[in-house]
Amino acid sequence: MGKNTKTFLKDTGASIPVVCGPMYPGSNPELIAAVSEAGGFGVVQPLSLTSLYGHDFREGLRLIKSLTDKPFGVNFTIFGGGNKKYHDNNKKWMDISIEEGVKFFLTSLGKPTEIVKIAKKNDIKVYHDVPNKKVALAMVDCGVDGLNCINWRAGGQTGIYSAEKFMEDLKDIKIPLICAGGIGNENDYKKALEMGYSGVQLGTRFLASKECIVTKSYKNAIVNSEEKDIVWTNKIAGNNSSVIKTKDIMRGGLRTGPIINFMLRRPKLKKYARMYLMSKGLKSYSKTAFDDSVQFWQAGKGVGGIKSIESCADILKNYKI
Ligand SMILES: Cc1cc2nc3c(=O)[nH]c(=O)nc-3n(C[C@H](O)[C@H](O)[C@H](O)COP(=O)(O)O)c2cc1C
Repeated sequence: MGKNTKTFLKDTGASIPVVCGPMYPGSNPELIAAVSEAGGFGVVQPLSLTSLYGHDFREGLRLIKSLTDKPFGVNFTIFGGGNKKYHDNNKKWMDISIEEGVKFFLTSLGKPTEIVKIAKKNDIKVYHDVPNKKVALAMVDCGVDGLNCINWRAGGQTGIYSAEKFMEDLKDIKIPLICAGGIGNENDYKKALEMGYSGVQLGTRFLASKECIVTKSYKNAIVNSEEKDIVWTNKIAGNNSSVIKTKDIMRGGLRTGPIINFMLRRPKLKKYARMYLMSKGLKSYSKTAFDDSVQFWQAGKGVGGIKSIESCADILKNYKI
């Protein structure tokens, strides 16, 4: 058991300190339910649930509840580039989550001051994604209950620090620290707990599960890749995302062109550049959920430890507390 693992298990209601992180694509309701049912903790990605997998938000949560009576969480990405519809949707999804009895919010990209206030009133725990010590300390001040430390081995939008460096920087923080990134198998998990993490958040491992709705070719690519096949591109969100090196990814290069680079360097323009990239990225990456011929495959450096496509229950059997 890691430091503060008991608190983390109490905060989530899970029996194993393993979270299936929110994923676009990948977070279909059946996956979230399967992870929670097996003792881990599934987290809903609202855009995946609604626009990708086609569920009305409330009905999607009810579908998960019909598949498991174990708890699960919901992710809120605060950054919306000032887009009113995006923020209205987030507010609506939060209200519905509260009404449907969700007790855990995972927040990212922004300051969750308002969310923490609402959560405290409703007996909900809030964990926040952090990329470094500065943000981590700011989030502790903000009143969050735990920190998701996104390291440089993570799939999707990746961090810049190693799990070890994070732990060194944050060792005096009293709330649970979750190791997010590069956990491909139970050995990586054990190492993270030994380092002092309270739990782990996995994405890539659960993409290669029976219950996840991404294409067979995506799952096979994860199983057949090694750490050296993972490259970084800033074309999805403006900062680095980890992806498998494929022809589709390499076409046009891994980095944004001069105009977007210029915008990304200017604080006032950055959000427009990121909105542009993210809306384009969503289109390409959503195809990987259903179209076997599209090879935009986000995955972390833990791929080398993932050897087969298994059910969530079989995967989690090996993650002992
Ligand atoms: C395909 C994919 C999509 C992701 N989408 C999101 C997302 O929409 N929001 C988010 O907060 N994290 C997202 N993540 C990050 C995961 O929730 C998780 O933190 C990360 O995958 C952990 O690293 P790992 O893939 O090495 O296990 C994504 C990761 C992957 C692989």
